[in-house]
Amino acid sequence: MKNLTEDGITRSALSRISGCPNSRLKEVVRALTQHLHAFAREVELTPDEWLAGIQFLTEVGRITSDKRQEFILLSDTLGLSAMVDLMANRDAPSGATESSLLGPFFREGAPFFPDGADISNGAPGEKMIVKGRVIDSAGAPIRNAIVDTWQASSEGEYDLQQTDSDQMNLRGRFRTDANGRFSFRSVKPSSYPVPDDGPVGRMLRALARHPYRPAHVHFKIAASGVRPLTTALYIGGDRYLDSDVVFGAKKSLVVGYSHSGANGASADTIEFDFVLASDKRTKAPKKKR
Ligand code: BEZ
Ligand code: FE
Repeated sequence: MKNLTEDGITRSALSRISGCPNSRLKEVVRALTQHLHAFAREVELTPDEWLAGIQFLTEVGRITSDKRQEFILLSDTLGLSAMVDLMANRDAPSGATESSLLGPFFREGAPFFPDGADISNGAPGEKMIVKGRVIDSAGAPIRNAIVDTWQASSEGEYDLQQTDSDQMNLRGRFRTDANGRFSFRSVKPSSYPVPDDGPVGRMLRALARHPYRPAHVHFKIAASGVRPLTTALYIGGDRYLDSDVVFGAKKSLVVGYSHSGANGASADTIEFDFVLASDKRTKAPKKKR
């Protein structure tokens, strides 16, 4: 029997997975093991610190439920979700609308609305109009695309956070017309803190980080022949654009309000062309290092 050394233990842990028949699983666990060991060595991790880390992860698991996913929030606030999303969209053609995080507040089965409908259900706040066009990479309109949209209120809360009832509010689905257009009325969203009453919130405070996302409206768009797009539009001028707690805001997705409408129904308006890439994709190419 060999004595284990600090270096030998990494080799030994790696050799234990040499027989793994699933090559991708083996690749991922090999790299994870190497990086975890290197991390422990680099920071000279003490037993007390590692125990505190395990207690933290245990709390993340405990608070996670059907309605709250603290592990995703942890991944989001560490920038890992945004990193995975960026890698997955590396091969998107230039000009295609960039993706942005889905987040925990998306709900399946939002109601379908006719074009121009108001999705705010009388929620208080400054009125806004959203006018979108869904087009392909060549600029041709995509008709019959399904546009799912959801947003926080002017007070920075999603319907899921406001009430115990299942009522959907400030969200809905639209179908694009023959010109690829859709539009709706709503109230202006505000920036908001991600749920920060759990272990991830404690982590953010310990790191002297704020918990805010800049004001935005989410979109999930699907149509036949194109790659589905999950993205969001961020309101220009928001104070958190450069420090989004989950690293989701991107320059190309920042929009401003212009004024439009008629007959006393005018409001600040967001206009945006969503460019969807063709779905002829195999696998995102590996980045050369
Ligand atoms: C959101 O934009 O809804 C969101 C995204 C990631 C974490 C929390 C919220
Ligand atoms: Fe959001």
